[in-house]
Amino acid sequence: MKIAMIGAGYVGLVSGACFSEFGVDVVCVDKDENKIKQLNSCVCPIYEPGLENLITSNVNSKRLVFTTDLSLAMKDADAVFIAVGTPSRRGDGHADLSFVYKAAEEVAANLQDYTVIVTKSTVPVGTGREVKRIIMDQKPGAEFDIASNPEFLREGAAISDFMRPDRVVIGTENKRAADVLSELYRPLNLLETPIVKTTLETAELIKYAANSFLATKVTFINEFATLCEKLDADIQDLAKGIGLNGRIGSKFLHAGPGYGGSCFPKDTLALAKTAQEAGAPTKIVETVVDINNHRKVEMVDKVSRACGGSVEDKTIAVLGLTFKPNTDDMRDSPSLVIIPELQKSGAKIKAFDPQGMREAKKFLQNVVFCRGPYEAMDGAHAVVIITEWNAFRALDLVRVKSLLKTPILVDLRNIYNLSEMEKAGFIYYSIGRRELRIGS
Ligand code: UDX
Repeated sequence: MKIAMIGAGYVGLVSGACFSEFGVDVVCVDKDENKIKQLNSCVCPIYEPGLENLITSNVNSKRLVFTTDLSLAMKDADAVFIAVGTPSRRGDGHADLSFVYKAAEEVAANLQDYTVIVTKSTVPVGTGREVKRIIMDQKPGAEFDIASNPEFLREGAAISDFMRPDRVVIGTENKRAADVLSELYRPLNLLETPIVKTTLETAELIKYAANSFLATKVTFINEFATLCEKLDADIQDLAKGIGLNGRIGSKFLHAGPGYGGSCFPKDTLALAKTAQEAGAPTKIVETVVDINNHRKVEMVDKVSRACGGSVEDKTIAVLGLTFKPNTDDMRDSPSLVIIPELQKSGAKIKAFDPQGMREAKKFLQNVVFCRGPYEAMDGAHAVVIITEWNAFRALDLVRVKSLLKTPILVDLRNIYNLSEMEKAGFIYYSIGRRELRIGS
C-alpha cells in the first residue's frame, strides 16, 4: 500500500515512520524545505526516543520518502493523511483550522484516482465534513472518501503507542474507506488491537473526550493534593488507595504542577468552545481549564513558602523545563509560568533540562542555562524540580546539600520520598504531602 502524510510535525513524522515500519510506502510532505532536507539526511527535527533510528532505517530501505511536492506524494496513494497543526486560535481558544483547509484545497488540486482522505490532526467535530465539501466544490466528480483517524500518541512514548495502541479509531461513513484503513492497520491484528469503527463526527469527538477525561483526572488528583496538604493527608497513598479500584484505575493519578503539552491545554479549550456553541456546555471541562491555569501559579507560592516567605534576591535552581520528560517540547509547560513568576518576585534563575534547553531559550529570558543539574544548583538558595526526568531521580543528596546555600528542595513531581529527605536534612516541600520545614 502507499500513503501520503501531509505535515512532517510530531504526529505526521511518528505516524509516517511507523506506517513505513509496517511495510507501507510512505511519502511525507511538508512545506518547510529545510526540514525536508534534514529528514532526507535522516536528521530528526524533534526529540522523540527511537524516532531518528526508525526514520533512518526506513529511509534507507526506501519505504519512507520526504518531499515538498504533494503531487509526487499523492501519485498512486491509497490514502492521504492530513497531519498538519491545529493550534489554538488567538483570542477565542478555538482550534485554528486554516492549515487543515489549505491542505484540503491542495489535496483537491492533486486528486486523481480513488483516494481516502483521512484527518489525523485533532480537529473539532464537523471538520471532516468541511474537508469533504472543500474537495467536492473544487473537484466535482472526484473519486474519494473522507475518514477520521485520530492519534493518541503520548510524547516520549509515541512509537510504542503507535505500534501497540489500546485501540484504533476509524470514523467514516463508507465501507470502502474503512476497508482501506483496516488494511493499513492490519499489522496490529496480531496484537488483537480493538478497532472502533464509527461515524466521522463520533471519531472526531472521541479524541477530545479522551483528552478531556485524562486532563480531568489529572486535575482531580491535583485538587486532592491541595486538600491533602490542608488536612495532613498524603496524596500518594490516597492515589494508590483509589487507583486500585479497577473502576478508577491507577494511571494518570500523579499529582503535579498542572498539565501542559501540545494536546491537553489546547484540546480542553477547543472542546469547551465547541460545546458552548453547540448549546451543551461541558462545565466540568471548563472548570478543569481554569483550575489548571491557576495551579501553575500556585506552585510559585509553594516555592516562596519553602524559601521562608519570599524569593526576592534568591537564586533558584530549576531542574526540568519541558512539560514532561523524554521530549524537548515546551508547549504550555508549567515552567513557562513558574519561572517568569519567580523572576517577577525578584528571584534569579539557573536552569537545566536534559533535552529542552534549545526550545526553552526561545521562551524564557534572563535565565542562566547550565550544563547539568549540579552546575545549576551550585550556589543557589533552593532547587525546584519541575519535570521528572530520570536524571533528577537519583541526585547525590550529599553533593546537592553541599552545593546549595540553604538545603531547600521543592519537588513538584514527588520523585523523592519523605523519609529519605528527612534523613538527608532537607527543607523539603512536595505535592500533597507533609512539608519538612526548618526544625520540623
Ligand atoms: C496526551 C495524550 O495522553 C495523548 O493520548 C494525546 O494524543 C496527546 O496528549 P502527551 O501530551 O504527550 O499526550 O502527554 P501525557 O503523558 O498524556 O501527559 C499530559 C500532561 O499531563 C503532562 O503535562 C503530564 O505531566 C501531566 N500528567 C500526566 C500529570 O500531571 N499526572 C499524571 O498522572 C499524568
